[in-house]
Amino acid sequence: MFIKKKRGWEIPDAQVTDESVYLNRRHVIRGLAASGFLASGISGASPLFHSRQSWASPSEDPSAVLYPVKRNERYTVDRPLTDEEDAITYNNFYEFGSHKKISDAAQALKIRPWMVKIDGLVEKEQEIDIDTLLKKMPLEERVYRHRCVEAWSMTVPYSGFALKDLVAYAKPLSKAKYLRMETFKDDTMAPGQRQFWYPWPYVEGLTLAEATNDLSFIATGLYGKPIPKQNGAPLRLAVPWKYGFKHIKSIVRFTFTEERPVSFWEEIQSSEYGFWANVNPEVAHPRWSQATEEVLGTGKRVPTLPYNGYGEFVADLYKGMEGQETLYR
Ligand code: MTE
Repeated sequence: MFIKKKRGWEIPDAQVTDESVYLNRRHVIRGLAASGFLASGISGASPLFHSRQSWASPSEDPSAVLYPVKRNERYTVDRPLTDEEDAITYNNFYEFGSHKKISDAAQALKIRPWMVKIDGLVEKEQEIDIDTLLKKMPLEERVYRHRCVEAWSMTVPYSGFALKDLVAYAKPLSKAKYLRMETFKDDTMAPGQRQFWYPWPYVEGLTLAEATNDLSFIATGLYGKPIPKQNGAPLRLAVPWKYGFKHIKSIVRFTFTEERPVSFWEEIQSSEYGFWANVNPEVAHPRWSQATEEVLGTGKRVPTLPYNGYGEFVADLYKGMEGQETLYR
C-alpha cells in the first residue's frame, strides 16, 4: 500500500504516552493522509529477497496433514503460476512492517492456539478453534489471480474453503446484510501495531451477497501446504475480483452486521481505498493508472482486466451500479 520514503516523521514508541493523542488516532491518521505523509506512492514489484524461514514447521501447524487437496477446475487462469518463492517473500502485511520484506518478521506470529469468533447477527454467537473449523469445511484448491491496488499481480494456488460455507455454518439472521472481518491485535507479536496512527486491528468487509458468491474464498493453504504466516496464516480472505487490500489476513473474527463496516484503509483514506474496490482498468487510482499491472517475478507489464478477469462470476452483483466510480476504489 503506502510505501514510506522517509521515516523521519515516525514517532518513537517511548514518546507515545499521551492518552489524548492515542484516542485521537483517527484524527491524526486522517491528517497525515491529507497532508500526503502516508501517501508516498507505489513501490513496484521488485526486487525480491530470499526468506530464511518461509513455512511454519509441521509441529507448529498441525493442518499440514490436510494438504494437498483436490483442485477445483472451475476457476482456471491463462497465466503461469507465480514462482512460489516470489509469492511468499513479497508481501503486504502492515502488522509486521510497512514494506514488502516482512516474511522473516512475520514468523513471530503465533498461529496455535487460534480461535475464530463468529458473532453479531447470527442464530448463536460462538468461538471455534481453527483445527475444528478446518475439519468442518470442505477443502479444495483454487488457482486465483491476485491484483494489488499498487498495480502488481501474481497467480497462486490457494487451498481452503468457500466463504459461503462458513456463512452457512454461522447461520446469519435475515437482518444481516454485511460480513465484517477482523485481524488479530497483539503488538507484542506484531510491531507494526505499535504504530498508533493506524486504526488497528485491520478490518475488512463484504456484502452478504458478495460473501456468498462462490468465488469468495477463505485461504488456509498455499502451494499445497498450510498458508505461510506472511501470507496470512492460518486463514485469510481471497476475493480475486477485488484489489488486494480487501484480502484480509490472519482473521480472528467474523461479525454479521446490518450496517456497512468501515475497513482499515477506508478509514485512513476513503477517497483512495473504498469499500467496494472492484478491479477496473478504466478507473485510475487518484495517484496512478490501473490500466496495467506488473506480473510479480517477470518484470513484465500486462493489461489489467475488468473485475481482474472474473466478470462472468461477479458482474451480476453490481447490476445497475456500474457507472459509479466508487465501485472501483
Ligand atoms: N491483511 C492484513 N491484516 N494486513 C495487511 O497489511 N495487506 C493487504 C492484504 N491483507 C494486509 C492484509 C494487501 S494491501 C495485499 S496486496 C495483500 O494482503 C497481500 O497479500 P500477499 O502478501 O499474500 O500477497
